[in-house]
Amino acid sequence: MQTEILGINEKSLNLAKNIILSGRTVVFPTETVYGLGANAYDEFAVESIFNIKGRPNDNPLIAHVHKDYDISELVSYVPEYAKKLAKAFLPGPLTMVYKSRGTVCPAVSCGLDTLAIRIPSHNGAQSFLRKVGVPIAAPSANISKHVSPTSAEHVYNDLKGRVELILDGGSCSGGIESTVLDCTGDVPIILRSGLISREMIEDKIGVCRVHSPKAGERVLSPGMKYRHYTPDCATMLCADVEEALKAYEELTDKEYVYFMCEDGAARKLCGKNILNLGKTDIEIAANLYAKLREGEKKARLIIGILPEMRDGIMAGVINRFIKACGN
Ligand code: TXA
Ligand code: MG
Repeated sequence: MQTEILGINEKSLNLAKNIILSGRTVVFPTETVYGLGANAYDEFAVESIFNIKGRPNDNPLIAHVHKDYDISELVSYVPEYAKKLAKAFLPGPLTMVYKSRGTVCPAVSCGLDTLAIRIPSHNGAQSFLRKVGVPIAAPSANISKHVSPTSAEHVYNDLKGRVELILDGGSCSGGIESTVLDCTGDVPIILRSGLISREMIEDKIGVCRVHSPKAGERVLSPGMKYRHYTPDCATMLCADVEEALKAYEELTDKEYVYFMCEDGAARKLCGKNILNLGKTDIEIAANLYAKLREGEKKARLIIGILPEMRDGIMAGVINRFIKACGN
């Protein structure tokens, strides 16, 4: 199969609509990462997503809709706190899990009685969702377990020959996936941290829990039990520059070793190979996946040094950093 990369315009959107309504898949940009989309009403198309990515078939997908879509067609109950959060943060990088009406095909939620809904803010994503008119089931557009894609080129490297069309909307400004928030109970629970932080949610509605299952405990979000964000080279995780330098000194072949770290740490390592994530939390989130993908091309070993900031969106960044560089 030939894979085409097209800018977003009337012509490419019409082509995307034809492909989607014929039961096939289209890759589209969002403000977080690129998504691999299929018509959420088409069982066969949704199942093909799992094959294309090599995704485990018990890890449910998010249904994406445009900002004027009436989600009461898809879900049965939206609590008051969720309405407030939607007003504050949508369209944007917040995915909300509700009780499903069962209107989309069961493969989207892998048979669960809930459905995750996302309204992305990216203009290209909005144009695509409006053009197709149907809810689009979409995971990140990478091979399962690999680093998520934040550019059309990243998608092409993973999925060439497996998808017909990649709509190119440039580099994703957010850089890590949306926050996944369970809105089925009295209090919302963060299932996956992201660009809408716990603090931002608490600020709007006063309370928000974070789901962090202990070993052996049942996970509320099936995606949490799998390894993710893995670059195609060896990795090592260090807590600070001192620990990283100690590990580095013990290596014999240093030429292909890269340190991945925030700007402050990079300054202390001058003269070494560096994948610099930047200074601010927003920069670090936006650069993380691109730097992991740059690193896997150049490095035999990436030594990840954990950034010092921990609050806000850094909770989501640190979580992915540990999954990418840890064992
Ligand atoms: O930013 C994003 O969310 C991107 C873009 C493309 O929208 N999408 C994305 O999808 O990251 P994916 O499939 O890579 O991650 C979806 C996460 C998984 O951890 C999955 O387990 C969880 O959402 N999820 C989906 N439906 C769920 C449900 N009904 N209940 C609990 N967790 C759910
Ligand atoms: Mg993913």
